[in-house]
Amino acid sequence: MNHFEFKDGVMHAEDVPLPQIAAEAGTPIYVYSAATIERHVRVFREALAGVDDPLIAFAVKSNPNAAVLATLARLGLGADVVSGGELRRALAAGIPAEKIVFSGVGKTAEEMALGLDEGIGQFNLESLEEAETLSEVASARGVTARVAFRVNPDVDAGTHSKISTGRADDKFGIAIDRAPDAYARVATLPGLDPVGVAVHIGSQLTDLAPSRAAFLRVGQLIATLRAAGHTILTADLGGGLGVPYNPAVPAPPTPAAYGAMVQDVTAGWNVRLIFEPGRVIVGNAGILLTRVIRVKAGKNDPFVVVDAGMNDLLRPSLYDAWHDIQAVAPQGEHFRANIVGPICETGDTFARTREMDQVVAGDLVAFMTAGAYGATMANTYNSRGLVPEAMVSEDRWAIVRDRQPIEALIAADRLPPWL
Ligand code: LLP
Repeated sequence: MNHFEFKDGVMHAEDVPLPQIAAEAGTPIYVYSAATIERHVRVFREALAGVDDPLIAFAVKSNPNAAVLATLARLGLGADVVSGGELRRALAAGIPAEKIVFSGVGKTAEEMALGLDEGIGQFNLESLEEAETLSEVASARGVTARVAFRVNPDVDAGTHSKISTGRADDKFGIAIDRAPDAYARVATLPGLDPVGVAVHIGSQLTDLAPSRAAFLRVGQLIATLRAAGHTILTADLGGGLGVPYNPAVPAPPTPAAYGAMVQDVTAGWNVRLIFEPGRVIVGNAGILLTRVIRVKAGKNDPFVVVDAGMNDLLRPSLYDAWHDIQAVAPQGEHFRANIVGPICETGDTFARTREMDQVVAGDLVAFMTAGAYGATMANTYNSRGLVPEAMVSEDRWAIVRDRQPIEALIAADRLPPWL
């Protein structure tokens, strides 16, 4: 459910017609709907209504825009961060430090120090080596870090290989059967307080069974750890719940179904549950608005060349991801086309042989479900400035990230002294 709907034949974001944003701010541009974000938070919360005081730590990587984070901060969410940069963005947006969980396989000593100095709630450690570094950094500061080990439960999440994280050979976490030894070792290290267990098996999950299997193993581990004398207070179940991208395929499980499964599996765990949803909060709350530069004849189907490129929305070229593509002011005709960007790579293809609204040069087109892992993965390939972002709330809208001018790109480079 989202708030990008047609009124009088024109797609709106809430009460704002998209052509108005395109006319004033140019294209390509990401457009977010605040009401949709708020609605998704409400739905996720309601799905966990039976859970006592869950911490919902938004996965900042999915959309780190300050306006998005501030919207979530006002709703009381915490943050799951994976870098010092994300940590600082979350704090700057008003997310309290104690609601921040620091995940990630490559935290540096400097990032650990930042997290400790800010007093974040929990570090999710991914290796014993990392635990040793955090122990040194925390001891040197005379503080104690609350930590969890992210365990790798060896389940295949059944999603795209590049976004699966819980198989034995994936780089993430420690093997779950080695966890008891790791907790025993950490209990002897100064500056660390092992308070929890964490797991995250992948993203865009469309089946609850792998998560259920992983959570069951986490439940067994908690019992084992407690029997060994550890005090386990938190269980971080990660993120990963999928969202509907393609209306023609069955929708992923709802947050309500996910919440019911979680409550079933975790009954009696007697921990504070932490969740790290990203996509399910912001995915359908954003679109990428782009304009057709021209429609070029193809050998079979025409090429719709739009002014957004793979640098602005990387998902189709990186994961063969499917995004719904709609004309902003459809005329009722359809055609089969390839939708491509202006970048000089064949991979700069958003869709092949797609049945879509017929469009001509100058028309506006929306890539749907682009609020997660959209702008945040954008880059400047082909010397295109970073794509701007706008947020709508009812009949108001504002630019929440400027289009990066080419002058900024040029100015960031330096000539060596000999040139
Ligand atoms: N927690 C951890 C430790 C994660 O690694 C991730 C995502 C999340 C939570 C949030 O997962 P979500 O609820 O958003 O599925 N760029 C890819 C997705 C990469 C996900 C990385 N980790 C894409 O565009 O599909």
